[in-house]
Amino acid sequence: MAKILVTGGCGFIGSHTIVDLLENGFEVISVDDNSRSTSIALEGIEKITGIKVKNYPVDLKGFEATRNLFVENPDITGIIHFAAYKAVGESVENPLLYFENNMFSLINLLKCVEEFNVPYFVFSSSCTVYGNPEVIPVTEKTPTKPAESPYGATKQMGERMIEDFSKYRNTNSILLRYFNPVGAHPTTHLGELPLGKPMNLVPVITQTAIGKLPIMKVYGFDYDTRDGSCVRDYIHVCDIAHAHTLALQFLIDQKNSSKCEVFNLGSGNGSTVLEAIKTFESISGVALNYELAPRRGGDVVAIYADNQYAVERLNWHVQYNLEDMMRTAWEWELKLAGK
Ligand code: WQD
Repeated sequence: MAKILVTGGCGFIGSHTIVDLLENGFEVISVDDNSRSTSIALEGIEKITGIKVKNYPVDLKGFEATRNLFVENPDITGIIHFAAYKAVGESVENPLLYFENNMFSLINLLKCVEEFNVPYFVFSSSCTVYGNPEVIPVTEKTPTKPAESPYGATKQMGERMIEDFSKYRNTNSILLRYFNPVGAHPTTHLGELPLGKPMNLVPVITQTAIGKLPIMKVYGFDYDTRDGSCVRDYIHVCDIAHAHTLALQFLIDQKNSSKCEVFNLGSGNGSTVLEAIKTFESISGVALNYELAPRRGGDVVAIYADNQYAVERLNWHVQYNLEDMMRTAWEWELKLAGK
């Protein structure tokens, strides 16, 4: 049974991916310093799979502590690297926090991949590497542009580091460019757990609807889009999770045609912020209290994916639509509120 190290395993996408990996026969260990997550996710994973996953509470910015993970687990076959800060708005306000955290952790990991000859590496990248694309939908061949935020810049630098590393070492890698992962596990045992005030749209919507937040803002209503608000490609977190399992298996089966392949993970549909709100309202029956507000620094106007390359090469099929995303997110918020 191949042992996989999931970094950020207590996080939103990491925890859902661990469930999918376990359900597909992989052995999994997690490393997560819980600076932006809690070990509640491990309980959710156990409730869904019956498996108690070991988490190493290690800050990957510390090389020795990171290296000890590999000393203790010399049989790690693959790594899925999620651990990073990921809020566009926050990165604009505090760039050095993002450069230090996201880049130092990746460099330490790659040093261990080199020393311990880990053959497979899957990287959590982002559609933010495309900046504000000229043409949408974007394919993997769409030229990347200077990122609109320091967060996006850390993903671009991370991709380049992994591409160069893979070219000159024995490791085969895949870069997965997520669009907007949202929703929650249909069992309601796992979901998004933003610590403190949420920054991403869907947890802001559900926390406003349940009354944790009095009102929410729609950042920008004068963009050149069909209703003036930004367009994003929302994709269910379980669809994203399964794509990681498929990507890992793709590498293990040596189906990759280069040392570092790139895949867009989006639904292929673009929705505006106001459309996302309307979908939530129709699913939940709750009229959302929101106000139209000025644009947010670092925001891309419109982006959504052409996901055909992942569909064909990874045999990946998106299972959840926007209604499912809003429904599962709302059911998770209700569960958190004990309702
Ligand atoms: C979406 C839209 C906001 C909050 C995310 C992740 C990033 C990456 C890409 C994976 C924007 C608007 C938001 C609010 C709003 N994913 N919004 N009011 O910025 O697209 O980035 O997806 O790697 O990690 O953060 O997501 O949810 O913050 O914003 O109007 O209170 O919702 O302006 O147009 P974003 P988001």
